[in-house]
Amino acid sequence: MKTAGFIGWRGMVGSVLMERMRAERDFDLIDPVFFTTSNVGGNGPDVGKKIAPLKDANDVAELAKNDYLISCQGGDYTKAIHPKLRAAGWKGYWIDAASALRMQKDAVIILDPVNRPVIDKAVAAGTKDFIGGNCTVSGMMMAIDGLLKADLVEWVTAMTYQAASGAGAQNMRELLQQMGEVHFTAKALLDDPASAILDIDREVAGILRDEKFPTEHFGVPLAGSLLPWIDTDLGNGQSREEWKGHAETNKILGRAENNEIAVDGICVRVGAMRCHSQGLTIKLKKDVPIADIEKILAGGNAWVKVVPNNREETLKRLTPVAVTGTLDIPIGRLRKLKMGGEYLSAFTVGDQLLWGAAEPLRRMLRILEG
Ligand code: HSE
Repeated sequence: MKTAGFIGWRGMVGSVLMERMRAERDFDLIDPVFFTTSNVGGNGPDVGKKIAPLKDANDVAELAKNDYLISCQGGDYTKAIHPKLRAAGWKGYWIDAASALRMQKDAVIILDPVNRPVIDKAVAAGTKDFIGGNCTVSGMMMAIDGLLKADLVEWVTAMTYQAASGAGAQNMRELLQQMGEVHFTAKALLDDPASAILDIDREVAGILRDEKFPTEHFGVPLAGSLLPWIDTDLGNGQSREEWKGHAETNKILGRAENNEIAVDGICVRVGAMRCHSQGLTIKLKKDVPIADIEKILAGGNAWVKVVPNNREETLKRLTPVAVTGTLDIPIGRLRKLKMGGEYLSAFTVGDQLLWGAAEPLRRMLRILEG
């Protein structure tokens, strides 16, 4: 049985990975070894079998004893440890949720329902670094997988509504603190049915702009607001999150530079907990009837679910609340836009901790285990 070392299993993405691996009995396939940066010798997670005490995540020789290393520890760890492992001649598989290695020539971005042929080819060619994609990109590609497989997509704009979890666990907590502060401030007026809504609004705007409002992690209020910038500023008017849309989509598909699908848009943080949503405009290569598009989308993979474009089904099935904690990727609001028969609108929602982070990692382990 091969050994798999896990780093960063205690954090948010790592915990979701552990849950999914337990649920799918992935630990039956491998001998797991757990690493830590802070608690060497401590106890690892319950995986249904006996495991050794925690080992040092900075001990390159110890890490190199493993056939697989699966990291949810973050980009700084990857940047510090991965080059040392390779320099020491480690030939194992590195499976990583962080973005640090994603665009490296020798790395493949994993989203196997969409790009299994790219992954299989890379494994056969001896590629050893397999990296999870950006959550928004993965969610979008899972949703429009059918259209991509049918090579019907000329370009896509993605206008995103990204959840707090994408910024980290502390940010999720801060969003809730912010919501609580806002409610606390408005409570007395809210409890009085005779109070004026503009008085409530004035109180709310006041607390949102108060310098004591909790904004340590987001920098600004997210509750009662939204943040139309995610990740760093590339200096050309584009955020790094927006840049990933085009770069990663084409890398995931293994498309050559002269054959790329243009992907661009505006990435926005909203006050959802862990589901990223996005409004898409898709320019099709030809005018395909909407009924055929629905069939093509529904056949893309086992997780995509086409939601009929009516009010009732949309509000029931196409929201972060409906999707959270599930692997479903609903896509709806499908209709041809006024611009013409080749212009398709769509809206999709996905749990960014599942398909957007943990799920492709455990599935990669399964692929390698044959
Ligand atoms: N960059 C994403 C976000 C999360 O900020 O929502 C990870 O892919």
